[in-house]
Amino acid sequence: MNFKKKILCIGAGYVGGPSMAMIAYKCPDFRVTVVDINHDRIDAWNSDELPVYEPGLDAIVKKTRGRNLFFSKDIERQIKENDIIFVSVNTPTKTYGEGAHMAADLQFWEKTARQILQYASSSKIVIEKSTLPVKTAMAMEKILSSVKGKIKFDVLSNPEFMAEGTAMKDLENPDRVLIGSHQTPSGLKARNELVEIYARWIPAHKIITSNLWSSELSKLAANAFLAQRVSSINSISALCEKTDADISEVAKAVGMDSRIGDKFLKAGIGFGGSCFKKDILHLVYLCKTYGLNEVASYWESVVKINEYQQNRFIASIINNMFGTLAGKKICILGFAFKADTGDTRESPAIYIAKKLHSEKAQLIVSDPKALKNAAMDLADIKDHVKFIADPYEAARGCHALLVLTDWNIYRDLDYRKIYRSMIKPAFLFDGRNVVDHQKCFKIGFHVFPIGKPPMTHFRTS
Ligand code: UDX
Repeated sequence: MNFKKKILCIGAGYVGGPSMAMIAYKCPDFRVTVVDINHDRIDAWNSDELPVYEPGLDAIVKKTRGRNLFFSKDIERQIKENDIIFVSVNTPTKTYGEGAHMAADLQFWEKTARQILQYASSSKIVIEKSTLPVKTAMAMEKILSSVKGKIKFDVLSNPEFMAEGTAMKDLENPDRVLIGSHQTPSGLKARNELVEIYARWIPAHKIITSNLWSSELSKLAANAFLAQRVSSINSISALCEKTDADISEVAKAVGMDSRIGDKFLKAGIGFGGSCFKKDILHLVYLCKTYGLNEVASYWESVVKINEYQQNRFIASIINNMFGTLAGKKICILGFAFKADTGDTRESPAIYIAKKLHSEKAQLIVSDPKALKNAAMDLADIKDHVKFIADPYEAARGCHALLVLTDWNIYRDLDYRKIYRSMIKPAFLFDGRNVVDHQKCFKIGFHVFPIGKPPMTHFRTS
């Protein structure tokens, strides 16, 4: 078949795979190929068990794979054959040298730029899809233009805003698509070519354009703003616990102001996931690089409040359980960083579990999707942790229950049955405010929500 456009994506990860599947699905007359240096990952994309779990992804891959969506290991050939190249390789936080634990590690990014330069035999549009520090496109351009010749590369920035668990919905119906380009004739021509692709299924008013640096910065800023909302509500939850205010009531009242809005105002044990902390720290590092120390510390405080919230939760467990956890059995309900995913990257549960272990508690971890990842995250303390999928089994004989992920199933468990099987006094620390606290209190639990007055049966004299 003669395809109208030939599109390549380098990087078959969480962003590259689903976003290319959506383009292939919406544009059957375009050929879309995804490559990766990790051959196991490519094999998985070509199998019945995709390497990424997202509702709706399987169906779209089934419809398009082999038709106009291909997963390939031949990077050299694919770079040669395709005219539009998305780059979606990972940009983790540096663990070494200058900027360690803050700056973005751009080694994979730079290697990809060099690979494109090495294998390209015709002009290309190269699109940054990974989240990157501002001005990274410039480095890419410098590499791509380091060999003078007839071949020309136009670099665009097109950050991905999808969230885990809703990736396919977000890709199909995004709030906006952002495309950054140089404002030169060839930059604008490249930009229009990408606009045309998205215009196949996204209304024109949702496709916005900007200069390259605004586009790069917008992605970091959007994630920083979202995380900041979580830290803002969490900081107020601490004050609620001291003043008998209720964080759900406060969030509702605040969120009903249309200028503020009601999304992302759920208090809990803090944000996790692969993006928020990483992107904020990249932003902080950037600000410091430019000497904007006040701006850097403003954004750094978002991460600090996130850590503070987790430490507060741990302190509450220890204090309320009479100052010692040694030998006590604690059941952790939920290990994923949020509901509807098996992903545990940066999950608050990891830090909390390790801290409780250092207090000599025995841990039982339960989660409907994340137990495999949890076992890897806790490999260094594995002899002291049990992993049990069934929440009723997991809670049996425990002194306390901790709800650490907002899985829906935890709203409707038979807490009476669980209470009966636990050691008394039975404690319930709800780190996501998902349980019916009043009901559990009536059953007999001592209940400790986030940002709400605790409910205990202890008499103070
Ligand atoms: C995020 C951004 O939403 C997405 O646009 C970007 O592309 C990638 O990063 P994701 O990490 O998948 O997506 O998860 P998200 O749904 O944003 O939640 C992040 C964390 O914040 C979770 O741990 C969640 O539990 C927490 N959170 C979110 C709260 O604690 N309270 C809230 O009100 C909302």
